[in-house]
Amino acid sequence: MPDASPRRPRVLSGAQPTADSYHLGNYFGAFKQWVALQDDFEAFYFVPDLHAITVEYDPALLRERTYVAAAQMLAAGVDPDRSALFVQSHVPEHAQLAWVLGGVTGFGEASRMTQFKDKSAKGGQDSSSVGLFTYPILMAADILVYQADRVPVGEDQRQHVELTRNLAQRFNHRFGETFTVPEAHIVKATAKIYDLQDPTAKMSGSNASHAGVVDLTDTAKQAAKKVRSAVTDSGTEIRFDPQEKPGIANLLTIFSALTDRPVDDVVAEFEGQQYGHLKVALGELVGDFVQSFGDRTRELLDDKGELDRVLAQGAEQARSVAVPTLELVYERSGFVAPAGSR
Ligand code: TRP
Repeated sequence: MPDASPRRPRVLSGAQPTADSYHLGNYFGAFKQWVALQDDFEAFYFVPDLHAITVEYDPALLRERTYVAAAQMLAAGVDPDRSALFVQSHVPEHAQLAWVLGGVTGFGEASRMTQFKDKSAKGGQDSSSVGLFTYPILMAADILVYQADRVPVGEDQRQHVELTRNLAQRFNHRFGETFTVPEAHIVKATAKIYDLQDPTAKMSGSNASHAGVVDLTDTAKQAAKKVRSAVTDSGTEIRFDPQEKPGIANLLTIFSALTDRPVDDVVAEFEGQQYGHLKVALGELVGDFVQSFGDRTRELLDDKGELDRVLAQGAEQARSVAVPTLELVYERSGFVAPAGSR
């Protein structure tokens, strides 16, 4: 069949497997968007295991977490028949392109990445790895190797996508049109979930305490308890006011996200009731959600053979795009093609 139809725009994203499980914030802030985008985009979703080795880590744990990550992406609704779901290290072109991009990245611009500054400040810059420093260049390669048009990420990754755009434009300018210049697709505020114990900090696997983080592997009981113990203000009125009442606003946001109902609707339902009512009702909802999510994840993890097969298929799909991009990049870069390669 001749391919006359223009290709669908491409979307690409990944989420680091740096915790034992993703959490509710990842689900609403990322995966739900990913799943919805599959309708209109040719989608590439992956587990960035190469990124995960830029901080101290345990290899056996990384392997297990990579499987859990992939299973949770599938459980969230990433459909391997429509989208490429894969593990980053299965597609060597990411690392190969990252090296080339390193040649057009300024040391100064890489030094300005705030995530590196934040992360390296924790243990001291001298004990940070060079990999942590070049992390954004690998991320640029992840995106550019698929000629992605859109990159759904949280606000914290915006600067990395901005760097990616600069590198793409610079490379195109120096070596000829090669890369699509991608755009960040920042999630809307209503999908942003905050820590239940500190509703001014976003829900994150790296938060000091896990009491405010609902993991997608929590039991219904654990999750419900975390919700019931959520920190709220000392007032009594249930209304959506993220400034004055960040705790209640967070609970309302989660309620709205879980039920696909507008926040106003949820506020109306609980109007005049006490915080406790909202917490108990939401605790049950969240409990049911993690229970069924966990069941699906465990089913997928129980058949590693099938999971391996799905990931191999995803990597193959991914390489069908990544290989030609890298060939073009090598050509533009002036590398001599090995004999017999064309
Ligand atoms: N840096 C991203 C994060 O920490 C994960 C990531 C790696 C990513 N490569 C990517 C996200 C490419 C989007 C596109 O969340």
